[in-house]
Amino acid sequence: MATNGLTKLRLLITLGVIGLFGIITFALAAVTLGTLNKRLDAVDGKLLAIAAGSLTTLSTVITMTPSQNLSLVTSIDVIDVLKHLHELQSIADRANGTRAINTRGFNETLQYIKYTLSRKTNFTVIEDSFPVRDFALNSDPVFISSVNGTIKIYTFSLDLTKADFLYAKYSTGSNITDIGYVSVIPNGGCNETDWQNVISGRIALIKKEGDCSSRQRISHATKYNASGILFYNNGRSSEDLAPIKIILSQDNILPVLFLSHKVGQDLVDAILNQSSNVTVQLGIDVKSLPAFPVGNICAYTSSGNATQTILIGSHADSVPEGPGINDNGIRLK
Ligand SMILES: *[C@@H]1O[C@H](CO)[C@@H](O)[C@H](O)[C@H]1NC(C)=O
Ligand SMILES: *[C@@H]1O[C@H](CO)[C@@H](O)[C@H](O)[C@H]1NC(C)=O
Ligand SMILES: *[C@@H]1O[C@H](CO)[C@@H](O)[C@H](O)[C@H]1NC(C)=O
Ligand SMILES: *[C@@H]1O[C@H](CO)[C@@H](O)[C@H](O)[C@H]1NC(C)=O
Ligand SMILES: *[C@@H]1O[C@H](CO)[C@@H](O)[C@H](O)[C@H]1NC(C)=O
Ligand SMILES: *[C@@H]1O[C@H](CO)[C@@H](O)[C@H](O)[C@H]1NC(C)=O
Ligand SMILES: *[C@@H]1O[C@H](CO)[C@@H](O)[C@H](O)[C@H]1NC(C)=O
Ligand SMILES: *[C@@H]1O[C@H](CO)[C@@H](O)[C@H](O)[C@H]1NC(C)=O
Ligand SMILES: *[C@@H]1O[C@H](CO)[C@@H](O)[C@H](O)[C@H]1NC(C)=O
Ligand SMILES: *[C@@H]1O[C@H](CO)[C@@H](O)[C@H](O)[C@H]1NC(C)=O
Ligand SMILES: *[C@@H]1O[C@H](CO)[C@@H](O)[C@H](O)[C@H]1NC(C)=O
Repeated sequence: MATNGLTKLRLLITLGVIGLFGIITFALAAVTLGTLNKRLDAVDGKLLAIAAGSLTTLSTVITMTPSQNLSLVTSIDVIDVLKHLHELQSIADRANGTRAINTRGFNETLQYIKYTLSRKTNFTVIEDSFPVRDFALNSDPVFISSVNGTIKIYTFSLDLTKADFLYAKYSTGSNITDIGYVSVIPNGGCNETDWQNVISGRIALIKKEGDCSSRQRISHATKYNASGILFYNNGRSSEDLAPIKIILSQDNILPVLFLSHKVGQDLVDAILNQSSNVTVQLGIDVKSLPAFPVGNICAYTSSGNATQTILIGSHADSVPEGPGINDNGIRLK
C-alpha cells in the first residue's frame, strides 16, 4: 500500500444491490477502471475476489496505463474465485436455493462478505441498511389506444415474442378510465431541449435512443409535467423490436409502460398526422406492499484523500430464481 497513487486516493467498495439504483460510478480514473472491470468480467467472480484481498494491487494499477498493465487481472486466481463461489452456493443451498434480497440467503451473503473483508483486509468495513419498497401488480396491466375512435387493445405478456407492452417495475398506478393525450418526445428525450414542446399533463412517448439513463428521461418527464411515460423500442435490429423490462427508481411518481417497436411507431405515425385524434388509456393496478430492509457492505481505506475517492460497486444479491448474479454492470438506457 505504499505507492504514490494510493497515498493520494481513497477507495470505497460497496457490495449490495447497487444495480437496483442504476449505474456503478467511477469517480476517478474511469477509463482505467473501466478496462479493469471488463477484464474482471471474464473471471466471473468480480469484486469478491478483490474484496478477499487483492486491493493493494488495485491501488497500484490505477496509476498505470490501462492497456499495459494487467497485473491485477493475473493476480486473481480462478481457484480463489471459485472458493467464494462455492461459499455463496452453500449459502444458497441452506436458504432455499437463492440469495435474493429479502431472503435469509441474502442476509447470510452479507455476513460472509463482511466477515471476509474484516478478516482479510485492512478496510474499515461497515454494514448499511435502508428500506426498499416492494413492487407487484394486482392484475395484468392494460393498454388501449384510440385513433379517430378506432380502438386497439394491446397484448400484455411476459413472453416477449407475444408482448405488445410490459410494465416498468416501480411504475405508479393508472386508472384505465383516464383518457390521455400523447406528446412525441424527439431524440430519446435525453436533452431538456427535447421537452420544450411537451404539453403539461400529456403522456410522453419516447423511443429508446440517445445516450442517457431511464432515470434522466424520467426526471425530464417529471419536470415538464408529463402525466406518464410510454417508452418504445427502437427497431434498429431484430433484437430491438420487443418491449423491454425496466426497473425505475423507487421515488418514481409516473405510470410507465414499455411498448414494442411496432406499437410505439404506429402511435407516433398516428400522432404526427395532425388531423387524427389519438388517445391512450393505461390500466396499472399497483399493489401496496410493505418495505423491507436491504443491506450494503461498504469497505473504505482508512488513508487517502476523501475528496478523491474511487468508488467500486458490485451486486451481492442473487436473482430470486437461483443462487447467481446475472446483471452486474448493466446500465439501463
Ligand atoms: C505492473 O504493475 C505491477 C505492480 O502491480 C508492477 O510491479 C509492474 O512493474 C507493472 N508493470 C508494468 C509493465 O508497468
Ligand atoms: C422455498 O421455495 C419454494 C419454491 O420457490 C417456496 O414455495 C417456499 O415458500 C420457499 N420457502 C422459504 C422458506 O422461503
Ligand atoms: C435480514 O436482516 C434484517 C436486518 O439486518 C432483518 O430485519 C430481516 O428480517 C432479515 N431478513 C431475513 C429474511 O432473514
Ligand atoms: C494490514 O495492516 C498491517 C499493519 O500495517 C499489515 O501488516 C498487513 O499486511 C495489512 N494487511 C493487508 C491484507 O493489507
Ligand atoms: C377509476 O376511475 C373511475 C372513474 O373516475 C372510478 O369510478 C374508479 O373507482 C377508479 N378506479 C380506481 C381503481 O381508482
Ligand atoms: C442539448 O441540445 C442543445 C441544443 O440543441 C445543445 O446545444 C446541447 O449541447 C445539448 N446538450 C446535450 C447534453 O446534449
Ligand atoms: C409544471 O407544473 C407546475 C405546477 O403545476 C408548474 O409550476 C410548472 O410551471 C409546470 N412546468 C412546466 C414546464 O409546464
Ligand atoms: C393521415 O392519415 C390518413 C389516414 O391514414 C392518411 O390518408 C393521410 O395521408 C395521413 N396524412 C398525413 C399527413 O400523413
Ligand atoms: C382522422 O380523421 C381526420 C378527419 O377528421 C382525418 O383527416 C384523418 O386522416 C383521420 N386519421 C386516420 C388515421 O384515419
Ligand atoms: C378524441 O377521442 C377521444 C376518445 O378517445 C374523445 O373523448 C374526444 O372527444 C375526441 N376528440 C375529438 C376532438 O374528437
Ligand atoms: C485533496 O484533494 C483536493 C483536490 O481534489 C486537494 O485540493 C487537497 O489539497 C487534497 N488534500 C490533501 C490533504 O492532500
